[in-house]
Amino acid sequence: MIRLTERLGRGRRDDDRDDGDGRDGREHEERGTRREREGYDRDLDRAQRTRGRERDRRGGEAPAIANELFETLYHEVVDRLDTGGIVDLDPGEVAERVQELVGRAIDERQIAVGSRGRRRVIEAITDEIVGLGPIERLLGDPTVSDILVNGADSIYVERRGVLERSEVRFRSNEHLLNTINRIVARIGRRIDESSPMVDARLPDGSRVNAIIPPLAVDGPLLSIRRFQTGPVSLRELIEGGSCSSGMAHYFKSVVRARCNVLVCGGTGSGKTTLLNALSRYIPSRERIITIEDSAELRLQQEHVARLETRPPNLEGAGEVTIRDLVRNALRMRPDRIIVGECRSEEVLDMIQAMNTGHDGSMTTVHANNVRDAFTRLMSMLSMAGTQLGESMMREMIARAIDVVINVSRGSDGTRRVISVAETGDVHQGEIELHEIFVWRNEPVMGRDEGHWYCNGHSTLMDRFRNAGARLASKYLAEVQ
Ligand SMILES: Nc1ncnc2c1ncn2[C@@H]1O[C@H](COP(=O)(O)OP(=O)(O)OP(=O)(O)O)[C@@H](O)[C@H]1O
Ligand SMILES: [Mg+2]
Repeated sequence: MIRLTERLGRGRRDDDRDDGDGRDGREHEERGTRREREGYDRDLDRAQRTRGRERDRRGGEAPAIANELFETLYHEVVDRLDTGGIVDLDPGEVAERVQELVGRAIDERQIAVGSRGRRRVIEAITDEIVGLGPIERLLGDPTVSDILVNGADSIYVERRGVLERSEVRFRSNEHLLNTINRIVARIGRRIDESSPMVDARLPDGSRVNAIIPPLAVDGPLLSIRRFQTGPVSLRELIEGGSCSSGMAHYFKSVVRARCNVLVCGGTGSGKTTLLNALSRYIPSRERIITIEDSAELRLQQEHVARLETRPPNLEGAGEVTIRDLVRNALRMRPDRIIVGECRSEEVLDMIQAMNTGHDGSMTTVHANNVRDAFTRLMSMLSMAGTQLGESMMREMIARAIDVVINVSRGSDGTRRVISVAETGDVHQGEIELHEIFVWRNEPVMGRDEGHWYCNGHSTLMDRFRNAGARLASKYLAEVQ
């Protein structure tokens, strides 16, 4: 039997030492080994008893296994893994090899973990070696949309719009930092004290943001927006209670008639998701250019040119901004330009593009309501260093944008379109707004319920008709 106490007590470097201890020493160690095993058993059993049901409910989310057990088996498996020999294997084969080695190590050490414990140990070590450790299972869980790590032992996940604390833990902040390093290294980036922030997209399309000490005060912070399988359609949004069917028909006419659209909402309110859904109605004969910080849009059309910004390199050079890309896109003969999110001076180029023949363009802006969205656009236009006065800027916005859609995330996590407004002229220093649809909360027994109301009239009806995107008046019924 391998002397586990020695391994644990003295660290890995002493592992293979043959100390020639006498019988007493061995007995002492075996007693220690038994105690250790019993300790693990107790830990695992307790964890299983108290968390088993919870885990089942959460679809396989397992609590952390005991640190020492993990460390011991992990290092042993890494030592035994012929790293040179696995480079040609695909990840599935490597995982199988690791599983086999962990199983063997458990058997050789005669660690009594029970069948569930054994499965968990194998899973945890395989995830660590082949994947991203504790969060690997969360990344593979289709019900999880966001993973938010606030230091080693505080992990939250969002499922179906609701944020909940996860059972998953990193073993230490160092372990978390290692994992962050592995994530960013995979995409050719670096994170350390001198450049402690990374915002990037993983190869599978998930968006990741990491920020580490000293900027993050209590330990490394990691936020992952998991890649959602398949773009959402307006039908799915209707089924999920995010918009009404009348509204969806209206959106279809808006897109077909090449109206310029601004989607606004708070963080995580569903702006990008709605933009994806709207883009489905762009006719396939048009050339679309998408511009994003991290490519989240997944257009269905064939003729799509996708552009993504680039952060500066370590010397601070080589940055390519959204604004650079919008300017470049104008030279690429686009029919429509879709900018994932306007955050800064690129608004000027986007608004100019919308005003100069690139009708049907779309973008999103971070703002809680339509008025705030205009205020943000104005302040972003000022940042662009234009010499235009305020009233001129307002005129430009009013002429450029035809429809503003406000999305919001309800207290129950439901993402919903809460207002759709068409822009009019500038009147007494304000852009006139014709609100077509509005959501009114009518809570039932504390639940987030309500209805969409429509004012029954769109100022864009002629435009829809002329573009062959006629909207039947039944879709503008008063109660949706
Ligand atoms: N209508 C919807 N129904 C259900 N889930 C949704 C809906 N819209 C968005 N989500 C989910 O909410 C999360 C945030 O969505 P999305 O990325 O579209 O928001 P966002 O407003 O663009 O966020 P950010 O401010 O970070 O750019 C995603 O996980 C997405 O799957
Ligand atoms: Mg977004």
